Amino acid sequence: MVELIVKKRNGLELSKDELTSIIDGFISSEIPDYQISAFLMAIYFKGMNSTETAILTDLMMRSGELIDLSEIEGIKVDKHSTGGVGDKTTLILAPLVAAAGVPVAKMSGRGLGHTGGTLDKMESISGFSVDMTRAQFIENVKSHNIAVCGQNANLVPADKKLYALRDVTATVNNISLIASSIMSKKLACGADAIVIDLKVGHGAFMKTLEDAEELAEVMINIGAKMNRKVIAVITSMSEPLGYTIGNALEVKEAIDTLKGHGPEDLTDLCLELGGHMLVLGEVAENHEKAVLKLKDLIKSGKAFDKFKEFVEAQGGDVNCIEHPELLPGAKYQRTYKSNENGYLSELNALDIGLTSVKLGAGRETKDSAIDFGAGIRLLKKMGDFVENGEALAVLYSNDESSFEKAVELMDLAYKISEEKPKEKRLILKTMR
Ligand code: URA
Repeated sequence: MVELIVKKRNGLELSKDELTSIIDGFISSEIPDYQISAFLMAIYFKGMNSTETAILTDLMMRSGELIDLSEIEGIKVDKHSTGGVGDKTTLILAPLVAAAGVPVAKMSGRGLGHTGGTLDKMESISGFSVDMTRAQFIENVKSHNIAVCGQNANLVPADKKLYALRDVTATVNNISLIASSIMSKKLACGADAIVIDLKVGHGAFMKTLEDAEELAEVMINIGAKMNRKVIAVITSMSEPLGYTIGNALEVKEAIDTLKGHGPEDLTDLCLELGGHMLVLGEVAENHEKAVLKLKDLIKSGKAFDKFKEFVEAQGGDVNCIEHPELLPGAKYQRTYKSNENGYLSELNALDIGLTSVKLGAGRETKDSAIDFGAGIRLLKKMGDFVENGEALAVLYSNDESSFEKAVELMDLAYKISEEKPKEKRLILKTMR
């Protein structure tokens, strides 16, 4: 192992056999964590080329269970978001795309840190269950064209172990390691094609467009080496997506969007990503026609009907979907106000995400309980003019004592300027 660390430290390429022996030794714990840590740091500084990155992805993917979706007819297209604040796109896209005829067999994650997770959001619907056997999961996709479940412990165990080590050795932020971590999980879930929503900005892993482009290219390359089509859409995460952050609040906004009256940014993003999913799933000829099809499904109510069917199939109370006021709420609320006149020039997604965790909407540790009714409703977004004393947002929590700290975090998120900020585009670039 020392020789292999030296080799990578000197910037040389590792062979398939060498990478295999490292990953095998790591999984079996024959190679101690301190040597893997040094190896990760060598990768962090010297990088890996596209061949090494694809080999690492393949090794990680094969470290656990591989989901076989071949029983399900049609091209299975998965969507992955690199994580954002207020990102409820899966709640909208899954039923929307399923209604268009693309089978949705989705394994999602829970929220951790400042970003939320699809499973937690769905569980804010009374009775909704994300725990199902593999057979049930496949059966639901076959009969409803849609199922969303959690990833079991056997899925890519090498990534779980490696990520935990990266997290404590300051080696998370390396493009090859991020790309292989994300792609190994997506590929193990059995998708034929993948659309990646690659976030860039304050609330995201990638802080600059250049870094996001590099990551997109590496992920597309991994897909090509494994015969899977990958489209990466680079989108801005400088402010939260939509107007709500927090589980039940986000379900309500997803329902509005499926009914055709959601916020513009969220609707646009869902149509953009969904359009690529329909083309990859070969149910639309091109992106333009795909978007028209999606708009029709929203207008006709078929997308919302599919959402209700999906909720019911997984044990959820459809009454809560028809009457969203029945979803979990919060006992306490606080209005957060501006103390100056001007244009809202910054609405830092990271700080807003951290505020929502403070209010109870997210997990401070892996095992924290979630308050489904907690969160934030934004009343203003970047570029809006606000007056002194005008309400900027409403905070919701079932723990009144959380407001003091939450307001301190909100103060960090907002910047008001005399000049109107330049309009920021949401969809920055599409790469394939
Ligand atoms: N998300 C992942 O799954 N892995 C990373 O390394 C970074 C983000």
